[in-house]
Amino acid sequence: MNVSIEKAIELLESGEPVAFPTETVYGLGADAWNPGAIKKVFEIKGRPSDNPLIVHIASKAMVNDFATEIPEAAVKLMDACWPGPLTLIFRKKPEVLDLITAGLDTVALRWPSHALAQELIFRAGPLVAPSANTSGRPSPTKASHVTEDFGNDFPVIDGGATQIGLESTVLDISEQPFRIYRPGFIDKSKIEKITGEEVILQKKNTSGQETRSPGTKYSHYAPEAVVRWLEEGETPDQKNALYLLHSLEGKEDEHHIHYHQNFQQMASELYDRFRQADHQQLDTIIIEPFDERARKEHPITEALLNRITKAVGG
Ligand code: TXA
Ligand code: MG
Repeated sequence: MNVSIEKAIELLESGEPVAFPTETVYGLGADAWNPGAIKKVFEIKGRPSDNPLIVHIASKAMVNDFATEIPEAAVKLMDACWPGPLTLIFRKKPEVLDLITAGLDTVALRWPSHALAQELIFRAGPLVAPSANTSGRPSPTKASHVTEDFGNDFPVIDGGATQIGLESTVLDISEQPFRIYRPGFIDKSKIEKITGEEVILQKKNTSGQETRSPGTKYSHYAPEAVVRWLEEGETPDQKNALYLLHSLEGKEDEHHIHYHQNFQQMASELYDRFRQADHQQLDTIIIEPFDERARKEHPITEALLNRITKAVGG
């Protein structure tokens, strides 16, 4: 159900979650100081309670309500990237609700750039906002995706299709060296350039590291269809399959989507393609792997690789 900003604020203030657009994906927002509202977020998504939430803010001043230490590098990153698709993990203040942080001593903060998100947070206050999908489903990049997962009666502010289409970069700056737990539009080399420090791209979580970013251990972003990589030398002619290609020459039709090296567009459409394939009851989604050149020239392929690998089941 499409709601206005005014209605959304009213709902948030009465402790009800509301979905809203950001520049990355739609978020399921709830008042970051209301434990009852936050519990509803976990229930609606079917989200495990050990997976912490990002607090969405709309000014640098709001950081001080949640974070204790604000390292020099964080100031540089906030100046360069906020508002925008970068989530920073800080040491938390004791009053931050344990429900949000899953008992960790850190809190994730992000100032989204989407105008509707900024207005909502500015007027309603800081909001926790996981992606507005049922846990395990692809993140929503359109209001209709939210409705698909939560039903027609669920309130959503419709801001059209989101621009970036993949979730924000999650960067832990609470400890040295800095670590990227989830790659996104703001890539490693950009962060290194801004901070002047080396950053580690955390690969798969091994058991010892699980508690540092619990969300990364869950399988995510998966449609019903099987997702797999195109094999070397394989011709793209499997029946009832959707091909997502970027370099391979060949036919282009509704089952063969060709991005011609436009990886930003691929990122912005990926989750919608996943969902559409399910609507069309296709059995397989087959994606052309990224070669070394694509990875070097198009840093967004790191984020794409991360999400696709999870959908493949890695
Ligand atoms: O782009 C985005 O970030 C979207 C939009 C709505 O802003 N939100 C989003 O939230 O993707 P969610 O809940 O789906 O993903 C948050 C990720 C999870 O992997 C979670 O484990 C991690 O951030 N996270 C949150 N707080 C953390 C913390 N204190 N330490 C480590 N990881 C944390
Ligand atoms: Mg999510």
